[in-house]
Amino acid sequence: MAKFEKANSINEWMDQRLAVNTLKKVMQTEYWIPKDINFLWAMGMVLAATFGILLVSGIFLLMYYKPDVNLAFDSVNYTIMTEVGYGWLWRHIHGVAASLVFLIIYIHMFTGIYYGSYKKGRELIWLSGMLLFVTFSAEAFSGYMLPWGQMSYWAGMVITNLFSGGSLEAYGLVEWIRGDYVPGDAFLTRFFMLHVLLLPLAIIGLIVLHFGTLRIPHVNNQEGAEIDFEEAAELYKAGKVKESKVIPFSPVFLSKDIFVMGVYFILFFYLTFYHFQFAMDPVNFDPADGLKTPAHIYPEWYFLWSYEILRPFSKDLGLIAFGIAQVIFLALPFLDRSPNVAPASRRGLFHIWFWIMLIDMLVLTFMGKLPPQGIWNTIGLVAALTFFALWIALPIITKSEKKL
Ligand code: HEM
Repeated sequence: MAKFEKANSINEWMDQRLAVNTLKKVMQTEYWIPKDINFLWAMGMVLAATFGILLVSGIFLLMYYKPDVNLAFDSVNYTIMTEVGYGWLWRHIHGVAASLVFLIIYIHMFTGIYYGSYKKGRELIWLSGMLLFVTFSAEAFSGYMLPWGQMSYWAGMVITNLFSGGSLEAYGLVEWIRGDYVPGDAFLTRFFMLHVLLLPLAIIGLIVLHFGTLRIPHVNNQEGAEIDFEEAAELYKAGKVKESKVIPFSPVFLSKDIFVMGVYFILFFYLTFYHFQFAMDPVNFDPADGLKTPAHIYPEWYFLWSYEILRPFSKDLGLIAFGIAQVIFLALPFLDRSPNVAPASRRGLFHIWFWIMLIDMLVLTFMGKLPPQGIWNTIGLVAALTFFALWIALPIITKSEKKL
């Protein structure tokens, strides 16, 4: 066993047993961040903070929620909203955070795409990030089932119906997923389990992995410059702060992160107190009724683009298109064949690709909310085909990109 000297402080006592000082160095004071980055690089920490809020508010909601088809709707809309002190506040916080987390995820993703932060050496950061996106999507979907309102029921019906297409019907896959012929008690309790246990655990594991993948390649910077981190760190430690290209994560960079978080939380609580309705569908304030299909079924805004990709196609083709759209971003580091790590503005055709992709996804989002009729249907179909055409074009246009 190691020798334990008499410790003169709690810190020393902990350090002898847990190497807390080494941990502090590795994760904070000697975790080097490039100077040349902007506020968009704070989105990762904003995401981590929003996830924290989702966990805490979720725990409060869990104390009164009842995962039973006869009780769920009232436990949310009556008990939590009117009987429990500040229950409404926790519900609004949870709903607003669930919506904003996707806005920030999309900003974080598109920042990574714009600056090429998924390229050589950083592939695992991207892949773990995309796994977080997919798991967050499942988390949001499962949470949407829990109030057991009309939209919970019918969104659950439409999405699980996808698994009844073609030969899947013969395997009884959709009944297996639902635990019944239609969404019912077994369906609700399994989505409850996913939402409060399995998926949050997976998200926590993936966040740890995501942070771990950042450690060796370090975060990218606005110019995509390759930095000699050891040399830059030595300069910083020698007091040549101006000459060094890096700053330590804590306390220097963290103070900037906290400033951005402050601004974000002003917006967050403004929305929570004054505009929480945007995160709650009015149709979901009617209890689930398997005999009354709502006139128009659509998911929350953050799923609209992929929902619109599914809609114009037949059931089988729709499922394939939807599946591909959900995971195609995983392949980005391998489909972008250019060696350049640089902002899109300096990458010729890729710059155009980036903006068309962004606009296309916005068009899909708007079309996803509109009823699938006439001209909206045609625009939706064109936007869906453009989405796939862009992915096919990506390796071709990036292969011919000139080395910067
Ligand atoms: C809850 C989910 C997530 C959390 C908590 C998180 C957290 C972070 C943090 C703290 C950073 C470092 C600072 C920064 O660049 O913001 C980071 C970087 C990064 N994340 Fe995420 N992230 C999440 C989801 C995602 C998703 C969905 C993607 C997209 C695929 C992604 C891709 C990246 C990339 C590429 C970087 C490197 C940025 C660079 O090198 O400049 N992350 N993430």
